[in-house]
Amino acid sequence: MVAVEGLGAGVPLVGGSYGTPAEGDASDGAFVHPMQASNALFFSLLTYQVGRRFTRSLRVRLAYPGVGGSIPCREWRSEAGFVTTAGRGDASFTGSIAEIYHSLLVPMIFAEPARLLAESVATADAVDILETAAGTGALTRELVRLGGHNIVSTDLNEPMVAAAAARLVSERVHWQVADAQSLPFSDRSFDVVACQFGAMFLPDKVRGYAEALRVLRPNGMFAFNVWDRIENNAVPFVITGALCAAAPDEPLEFFRRTPYGYFDIDRIRGELETAGFDRITGEYIEGSSHSTPESGAEAFCQGTPLRGEIERHSSLDVESATAIATTELRRRYGPGEFDAPIRWLQITARRPAD
Ligand SMILES: C[S@@+](CC[C@H](N)C(=O)[O-])C[C@H]1O[C@@H](n2cnc3c(N)ncnc32)[C@H](O)[C@@H]1O
Repeated sequence: MVAVEGLGAGVPLVGGSYGTPAEGDASDGAFVHPMQASNALFFSLLTYQVGRRFTRSLRVRLAYPGVGGSIPCREWRSEAGFVTTAGRGDASFTGSIAEIYHSLLVPMIFAEPARLLAESVATADAVDILETAAGTGALTRELVRLGGHNIVSTDLNEPMVAAAAARLVSERVHWQVADAQSLPFSDRSFDVVACQFGAMFLPDKVRGYAEALRVLRPNGMFAFNVWDRIENNAVPFVITGALCAAAPDEPLEFFRRTPYGYFDIDRIRGELETAGFDRITGEYIEGSSHSTPESGAEAFCQGTPLRGEIERHSSLDVESATAIATTELRRRYGPGEFDAPIRWLQITARRPAD
């Protein structure tokens, strides 16, 4: 894991793009022939592999010209031009998704960011912590390890809360179903609000941030993280490319649209400021995921709301989509266990003092 250039821990997010292009500027809704797509994907990934041998720096990562445009996917944009996240069941972590998410996806990509986000929370010296979009408790477990805090852990989807509560029983943790955009808590009741990879799912981010601010005490800390763009998160990038190439007329775009569609730090800073936060800091962090082609494909195709999008698809089903994803991961990484890069943005913001 390394922090990357320009945004070391505690560096304020002010102006400039910090090396991350504006959202969606690489693809702009273009449709590309599947052969072009797979050639571009192959050479892009080859470039990446070669580059990785020499250095893991951001400079190498940004040397993949056109990778973003090589997936034959359409981007959904709001009137303001942002990739939209609302609707389409993108926040539906329901049914069997919760168990597959917990058993396969959490150890693969959520455990490491949780540890680092908890370290950031630890600096706040909090007594009362609220966690939003807690899922099956990846971050909650790390917060409990910090010791000494009262934790209220919440999530929109009851199956996620149930899966979490069944596994993590602690007198310090209270589990509750709650929408992060409409929190059922009094003003000024927490020292920290923490949220791991949940902000991307909020249809109204400013409203969600304003709710976090409302329940924080003066000087309280809001600590959260979001995934960087999909091109910097290899496994979902490879899977999305394979599925979009298999069905270019009806592309499966959940990952690009939502979990990997909210990474523009200027936008995030602006929305936090609009909600009333100050002292905003951010840090890009690189890590790696560990999986096999089979478990990686199952995790992403069946343990996320992509599953619902596949089930609604006219030509693919869960079995065929998982098989396509497995084949592409095998072609890309070979059979057996493999490591692949992940990259995310960790952010803190403070409620102003009175
Ligand atoms: C990618 S998961 C992250 C879960 C967990 N924080 C973790 O690290 O494993 C996103 C979570 O956001 C939750 N979510 C989506 N929309 C939400 C909302 N409006 N309010 C609260 N939680 C929401 C989902 O139910 C899901 O559990």
